[in-house]
Amino acid sequence: MVPNTLSLLFLLASLASACEFPAIINFGDSNSDTGGYAAAFGALPPPYGETYFGSPVGRYSDGRLIIDFIAERLKLPYLSAYLNSMGTNFSCGVNFASSGSSVLPPTMINFNPISLNIQFLQFLEFKSKSTLISKQGGFFKDLMPKQDYFSRALYTIDIGQNDIAHAYVLNMTQVEIKLFIPSILDRLSMTIKDIYGEGGRFFWIHNTAPLGCLPYLLDRIPPTQDQMDKTGCSNPVNEVAQYFNSRLNETVVQLRRDLPSATFTYVDIYSVKYKLISQATQYGFEHPLQACCGRGGGKYNYDRFGRCFENVKGLRSCSDPSARISFDGIHFTDAANRWIFERISGGAFSDPSTSLINACQQ
Ligand SMILES: *[C@@H]1O[C@H](CO)[C@@H](O)[C@H](O)[C@H]1NC(C)=O
Ligand SMILES: *[C@@H]1O[C@H](CO)[C@@H](O)[C@H](O)[C@H]1NC(C)=O
Ligand SMILES: *[C@@H]1O[C@H](CO)[C@@H](O)[C@H](O)[C@H]1NC(C)=O
Repeated sequence: MVPNTLSLLFLLASLASACEFPAIINFGDSNSDTGGYAAAFGALPPPYGETYFGSPVGRYSDGRLIIDFIAERLKLPYLSAYLNSMGTNFSCGVNFASSGSSVLPPTMINFNPISLNIQFLQFLEFKSKSTLISKQGGFFKDLMPKQDYFSRALYTIDIGQNDIAHAYVLNMTQVEIKLFIPSILDRLSMTIKDIYGEGGRFFWIHNTAPLGCLPYLLDRIPPTQDQMDKTGCSNPVNEVAQYFNSRLNETVVQLRRDLPSATFTYVDIYSVKYKLISQATQYGFEHPLQACCGRGGGKYNYDRFGRCFENVKGLRSCSDPSARISFDGIHFTDAANRWIFERISGGAFSDPSTSLINACQQ
């Protein structure tokens, strides 16, 4: 009896220590787009993807994104984009993220119509079609997730940055943007409830970055000397990002009340990225406010009329992206994403402070 009791205890201990998520289902923007935008609107040019994949793979980075490191840690394959129709294997998850997409439906200045509500409609389509294909059997069945995966998967969400960035492009004031933020979060909350309604239970939610430290917004809304912090980031823009994050946190707190059988991990990406950017040298990085790939040089090496992903003259990439934080002025390098992932995966920046592999536990 003793060995059996012991092995039962070991079994219970192992069940309690890891969630064994069989799949990841992701919603978001370019921070987690693994090829959705490229599949719909055209491939990215080099030097995207070069450091890690050897060629562009639809990711806005020289290599991996945080979502790729999440997949690696959960021992799952990298996520394929839902819109990638060529030879795609969805058995361990699917990615609806699309670069440039926002929570709220697009406005005139937003070139990407695949906002969060469309990503959710695509999820519904994915769920019903994969169910049908699994029932029919045959070759394609093995490329689909199992039906119970929809309630066992980790649902990851990283979106909102473009809602704020677009508001700045529309010349909204700080006060106007803050007044507009609650409507972004109401919509996000509705979508999460809709995912819950489809069986989703485990949510891993990233807050938004210190947008005032990103070259493209420093270029768009240059801070005056007294609006800059020690690093050169824009205090007013970061204040807006922090306001968004505090409202996001409140939204998640409310979701925990409304959906007590779901688990929500709120991940403070802002603080990790700010730490990296403001103490870059200490962590082996250089030029934290400068794009690696860009043109024009200057403080930010960012030219909004000649961005790394546009086919224009004069673009250059830096010689060592592994020592850089910003790849193209908007997005992070493989090295920075790895650094960020290593800090968030153990739970030190999460609320509650559960690690990634335990994110199913309340
Ligand atoms: C799909 O991916 C899974 C996980 O990587 C793998 O085990 C399976 O063999 C793949 N299916 C096909 C048909 O390639
Ligand atoms: C925002 O302001 C700039 C500078 O005044 C102007 O050139 C631009 O057209 C404005 N954008 C919008 C969307 O109104
Ligand atoms: C989120 O809000 C709750 C309730 O106000 C608070 O206790 C918690 O510390 C906040 N978490 C973060 C990460 O700000």
